[in-house]
Amino acid sequence: FYLVKVNQKRRDLANIPPGPKRWPLVGNFGGFLIPSFIRRWFGQQSDKNAMVDLTEKANVYGNVYSLFVGEQLIVMLNGYEVVKDALSNHPEVFSDRPDIPAITIMTKRKGIVFAPYGPVWRKQRKFCHATLRNFGLGTLSLEPCILRGLATVKTELMRLNEGPGGAGVDLAQLIKNAVSNVICSMILGQSFHHEDRQFRNILDLMDRGLEICVSSPAVLINIIPQLYYFPFGVFRELRQVERDITVFLKRVIANHRETFHPDHPRDLIDMYLKEMSVQEDSSFTEDYLFYIIGDLFIAGTDTTANSVLWILLYMVLYPDIQDRVQAEIDEVVGTHRDPSMTDKGSLPFTEATIMEVQRLTVVVPLAIPHMTSKTIEFRGYTIPKGTVIVPNLWSVHRDPTLWDGPDSFNPGRFLDEEGKLIRIEGFIPFGIGRRVCMGEQLAKMELFLTVTSLLQAFRFRLPEGTPPPTLDGRFGLTHAPFPYTVCVHPRI
Ligand code: HEM
Repeated sequence: FYLVKVNQKRRDLANIPPGPKRWPLVGNFGGFLIPSFIRRWFGQQSDKNAMVDLTEKANVYGNVYSLFVGEQLIVMLNGYEVVKDALSNHPEVFSDRPDIPAITIMTKRKGIVFAPYGPVWRKQRKFCHATLRNFGLGTLSLEPCILRGLATVKTELMRLNEGPGGAGVDLAQLIKNAVSNVICSMILGQSFHHEDRQFRNILDLMDRGLEICVSSPAVLINIIPQLYYFPFGVFRELRQVERDITVFLKRVIANHRETFHPDHPRDLIDMYLKEMSVQEDSSFTEDYLFYIIGDLFIAGTDTTANSVLWILLYMVLYPDIQDRVQAEIDEVVGTHRDPSMTDKGSLPFTEATIMEVQRLTVVVPLAIPHMTSKTIEFRGYTIPKGTVIVPNLWSVHRDPTLWDGPDSFNPGRFLDEEGKLIRIEGFIPFGIGRRVCMGEQLAKMELFLTVTSLLQAFRFRLPEGTPPPTLDGRFGLTHAPFPYTVCVHPRI
């Protein structure tokens, strides 16, 4: 039986895509990934190099190439044609999620983001998507909620601006708070003041948890899962973070259960509790609800907040583009009312600028790992069942066959000669296929309203005498800009 298995494995690996030489036991984790992690642990260097490395490997091995972490085969998909071919043309094979020990221990493979591809994931995703839509996603009814949060950000920026000027402010906390409040009001039915200590604490815990998972020795849990229970250092801290977040979310669910009225659902939790009482499907449980809330909270906060921070950073570094965006907003929206989603079609340069920053910064550069659910012959290679698939969205957005001068910042590439917005197929910051981002519409709405509102109200510029911040970012769960400060000047 053992020999049959060994032979089967040898046959499976006989025609896999080519890739760099791997080290015994650790695979490419040794030669390539470990130096990158060490770089990060000691000194927090830019991670752009890791992205560039992964993308440049395609020049050597081709757009479909292999890496190994230990014995686990990972296939990297590079360039738009290849990513689309896998995720859109073969969705039944490429839409599963791998069992990543550190994540499986914490999520039990429930929720949406890391749930295995299949009927349970499909039902849960469909239900949540429909419910978010019900609470305003993609419609105008969510607009006041987003604008309310932005009004707080603007008031706070005005206040900070009146303080000792010149040094600049870090926008990260305010933006993050406003963004997470949108998802909180849809899911939990409440929003929080940016100085609310309990809420701040939860946001900080999430940051810390993600940081530990991605860039600390805790990544070793993926090789030796028992390390999760190690009673010292980051391993202990990770368990504590997980416990604190669990207590917070469970308390929110319990409060909802106690005050729940099926005829007046207030938010996603109420809708889910209602569904649990009518659904015969046993996957609709309070346990599942718990993981879904965690997923939406995490997926919906960092991604959008970092996208806004990138856009404002580009505006500071490209003041001429900021001028053009503001001129367009002034002409279409003016200064006496808030921007609205109905203005979107009339603000093509603003929209093109948002898209161009998203293209260059790729906030989720390697998507979320996929996994093959059966063996497939793909572009001349055999990719065995259970292979981890990494769609390299960074490479798609830098694909020279799609983008002219892919490294340069040029919002005009999204506009035709008449200045109208054009759709470019290879622009996929939200991924493609069955696992495409579930919050795409929500994120687009938040990005548009946040950027237009803030640029309508303020001019952003670098503090006097400070060196310009780097456009290289750091890679945790998302690709984020390094902290930076800006001076804000009221325009209205
Ligand atoms: C998945 C990008 C905002 C919820 C993803 C994926 C990407 C992505 C690239 C992975 C696709 C794949 O695996 O192939 C982004 C970006 C955002 C954003 C760039 C902001 C600019 C949001 C928001 C929500 C959200 C606001 C909240 C509703 C999700 C969920 C998934 C996901 C639930 C997992 C989908 C699944 O596995 O079925 N996102 N996202 N995202 N995103 Fe987003």
